[in-house]
Parts: sequence; C-alpha cells; structure tokens
Amino acid sequence: MRKGRSLILAFVAGLLVLPVILAVVALVGWLPSDAVSQPPGLEQAIGEGALDASLGRRAKGLHNPVNSSDTAALLAGEKLFRQNCAGCHGGAHADSSWGARNFYPRVPQFWRVEEDDVPAPQEAFVAIRDGVRYSGMGAWNGMLSERQMWQVANFVSRMHHLPPDVAHAWQARK
Ligand code: HEC
Repeated sequence: MRKGRSLILAFVAGLLVLPVILAVVALVGWLPSDAVSQPPGLEQAIGEGALDASLGRRAKGLHNPVNSSDTAALLAGEKLFRQNCAGCHGGAHADSSWGARNFYPRVPQFWRVEEDDVPAPQEAFVAIRDGVRYSGMGAWNGMLSERQMWQVANFVSRMHHLPPDVAHAWQARK
C-alpha cells in the first residue's frame, strides 16, 4: 500500500520535472524572444501543420456568404488586401521584406506559397476574423466588416487563379 503510493508520487513528480525546468529556464530569461532569428525547419513544419489543422477546426460549419467567383467582390478583396495585408504578406510579384524577414514565425508570402498550401476561404476567414495567437497576425474583427473579411478571404484563397479582370488589377500593381 505504502509502496504503491510512493511510486505514484514519484511518477507524478517525474512528470512535473520537465515542465518546471522549462518554466524556470523561461522565467530567468534563457529562452530566445527576438523575432529576427531564422525559425528552425522542424519548428516551422510543426507550427504550420498545427495552424493548418487548427484553422480547419475553427472553420468547420462556416458558410461563405460571398460568391468566390464574383468579380466585383474579388476586386474589393484585392483592394482590401493591397491596403491592409500586402505590407506583411507581400504583393503580386515580390515579398514584403518586413514580413519575410522580421517576424517569428515568418509571415506567409501568399504570391509564392504553393497553390496547395493557400488556405480555403473559410480557413482564411477565421484567421482574418480572429487572428493567430502568438504571431504577428492580429484579428481584424471590428476593423473590417464581416463582408469585407469574406471578400479578402476569397481573394487570398484564389490568388493563384483569379478571373482575368482581377488578375490584371492585381498583377498591374508593383
Ligand atoms: C503585421 C503583419 C500582418 C498583417 C498586416 C496581416 N497579417 Fe496575416 N499573418 C501574419 C502572420 C505573422 C501570419 C502567420 C501566423 C503563423 O504562421 O503562425 C499570418 C497568417 C495569415 C493567414 C493564415 C495563413 C495560413 O497559411 O493558413 C491568413 C489567411 C492571413 N494571415 C491573412 C491576412 C489578411 C487577409 C490580412 C489583411 C486583412 C493580413 N493577414 C494582415 C501577419 C500579418
């Protein structure tokens, strides 16, 4: 009986050792906190996978009220993106040097993100509306209307296959 209990205590103490050491290491300031270091590949891969999965969960059941083929709505999204997002997420032909170098995690540069990795409208929408924790991606809720957030979400998700008029407007700008 006694022995069983001390075994359990030892087990619980063992479980706590690592998190406590980590907390102490963090609180004495030994963990790096700058934004310019290059994120290690493994950390980046796990982070991107986890964000993807989480956005998928957060987007479940959402209905997109804006037709993602509506040219006028996509043009509105293009304008919103250029005004509010390109400064971090890059333009049609080039990175944002701030976004691509000075954030941890780095800001995805959508113009050169692989087509398969561009988020679907619903996933982009939840990232836009509610932001991404522990990153430079703040929530836009209250800054843009619901409709504007869908317009820009549709634009992001179609950036690699825009209708000709919208592609023309987007590509024409530096
Ligand atoms: C101050 C810089 C900054 C601005 C401005 C900004 N973002 Fe972001 N955004 C980020 C960062 C950083 C991330 C990546 C978070 C991560 O990887 O954990 C991100 C992530 C995202 C994602 C998720 C990407 C993915 O791969 O799933 C979307 C979608 C997005 N942003 C859209 C927008 C839109 C649309 C706007 C403008 C309305 C915008 N962002 C403005 C910094 C910014």
